[in-house]
Amino acid sequence: MKDFKSVRPIIDEKRPGLYIETYGCQMNVNDSEVILSILEGQGYALCEDMDRADIIVINTCAIRDNAEQRIWGRLDVFRQLKKKHPVTVCIVGCMAERLKDKLLEHPAVDIVAGPDSYRELPALIRNLSEAGNGKQINVILSSEETYADISPVRMDKNGVSAYISIMRGCNNVCSYCVVPYTRGVERSRDYRSILREAEELAANGYKEINLLGQNVDSYLWKGDGQTINFAALLKMAAELLPEIRFRFSTSHPKDISNEVLDTMAAYDNICKHIHLPVQSGSSRMLELMRRKYDREWYLERIRKIREIMPECAITTDIIAGFCTETEEDHRDTLSLMEEVGFDGAFMFQYSERPGTLAARHYQDDVPEETKTRRLNEIIQLQNRISLERNRKEIGKRMSVLIEGVSKRSESELFGRASSNKVCVFPANGYKTGEYAEVEVTGCTSATLIAKTL
Ligand code: 5AD
Ligand code: SF4
Repeated sequence: MKDFKSVRPIIDEKRPGLYIETYGCQMNVNDSEVILSILEGQGYALCEDMDRADIIVINTCAIRDNAEQRIWGRLDVFRQLKKKHPVTVCIVGCMAERLKDKLLEHPAVDIVAGPDSYRELPALIRNLSEAGNGKQINVILSSEETYADISPVRMDKNGVSAYISIMRGCNNVCSYCVVPYTRGVERSRDYRSILREAEELAANGYKEINLLGQNVDSYLWKGDGQTINFAALLKMAAELLPEIRFRFSTSHPKDISNEVLDTMAAYDNICKHIHLPVQSGSSRMLELMRRKYDREWYLERIRKIREIMPECAITTDIIAGFCTETEEDHRDTLSLMEEVGFDGAFMFQYSERPGTLAARHYQDDVPEETKTRRLNEIIQLQNRISLERNRKEIGKRMSVLIEGVSKRSESELFGRASSNKVCVFPANGYKTGEYAEVEVTGCTSATLIAKTL
C-alpha cells in the first residue's frame, strides 16, 4: 500500500487551494478523485503544498492499527500548521467512519466524513464557515451510493493507467476485517456509467483501466430487465474498448467463477493476472476467519486458473498470527505458498480491529514476537518464490505498457507486463504510454530486467 499525495500543481492561484493525502487501498485513491471532482465543482483547485492549502483532506484507512497510528501522527502536524495559518482539515474515509466523534475531538480536525458522505462535503464546509456552527460530521452509510454520476478527476502521475470503482462496500463478514463496518453493504454501480467512464478515459489517452471493488466477482447489477454479472461487465468492457488493457481487483476465492476465467482467456486485452487473497493455508484458520472456503477449495481454484490460463500470474494476501494460530497452521500457510507458487504477495501480521467478529469472539492470543517471526518467515519464503517465478520469465518475450522513466536510470523505462510484473529496460526511443516489445534477460524478486526487440 502506498501513500498518494496531490500531484497536480495549483492551476489557478486565485482559487482556494485543496491539498489531498490518500492512505490505504486503490479504492481510496479513486475516492480521492471523486472528492476532487466534487470540490473542484465548488471552485477549489488542487495544490501540492499543504502550506498553501485552504482545505486539507486526509483520506484514511482503518484496516490495521498502524494505518490509524500514522493518521494520528499527521494530525499533530496539521495542528502545528493551523498555528501558522487558518486551514480547514477534513478527515474522510474508513478511519473517519470507524472513529467518528473521537477524531472530531482532535483539535486539528474540523470535518469528519465517511466513505458514503462525499457529496455532503460542500455543505459541511459551508456549515463550518457559517459563524458558530462548529465542527461538522457526516458518517451515514448508504446502501445505494456509488458516485456513478461523478466523473473522478484523475490524480495519477502518468496519465497511462486509471481506476474505475465498479462497486462499493462488502457483504462478506470475514471475522478479522473492519471493512464491512467502514464501507457498508455491497452495491454495484450501473454498468452503463462504468462503460461511459471507461470511454472517457480512453478518449483522454489512458491505455489501461483497473476495475476496482472489494469483491469484484460479486458485481451484480440489475435494472431495466437486465442482469449483469462481473463476467458480462468484463466482456462488454473488453469488446467496447479493444485498445484498452483491463485489469481488475480484488477477487474472492469463493466467488471467482469459471465464467470470469473463460472471459479473461477469451480477450487479449484482459490482463492475465489475478489477485486472489488466501489469508491462510490452514482450513481451521480459514473457518475461524469465516472465509467460506478451505485449503482444498482454494487449491482447486488455482488449478482451474492454470488449466484455463497457464500463463496467468497469481498474487495473494496473507495474514500471520491470527487468533489461535498454531505452528502447524503456520506451516500449512508456508506449504500452501510453496504449492501455489505465488508471483507476489502482500503479507501482514494480524492486527485486531475493534468491533469485528474476531475482536468480539476470539482472543488475540498469538504473542507479538511470534506473529513477527511467522510474518518474517512468510516474507522470506515469498521473496524466494517470487525470484523463482520471475526467473521462469527469462527468455520470454512480452508486451510492456510503459508507465515512466525508471528510478534507477534516466535512460531506462519501466512498465508492466500483462502479468502485472514490473519490467525495466533501455528506453531506445520508446515513450510513456506506449507498448514496448521486450525480451526478459534477468530479474530480481521484484522486477524483470529486459531488452527491447
Ligand atoms: N489484520 C491484518 N491484516 C488484515 N487484512 C485485513 N484485515 C486485517 C487485519 N485485521 C489484510 C487482508 C486483506 C488485506 C487488504 O489486508 O490480508 O486481504
Ligand atoms: Fe481500503 Fe480497506 Fe483501508 Fe478502507 S480499510 S482504505 S477499504 S484497505
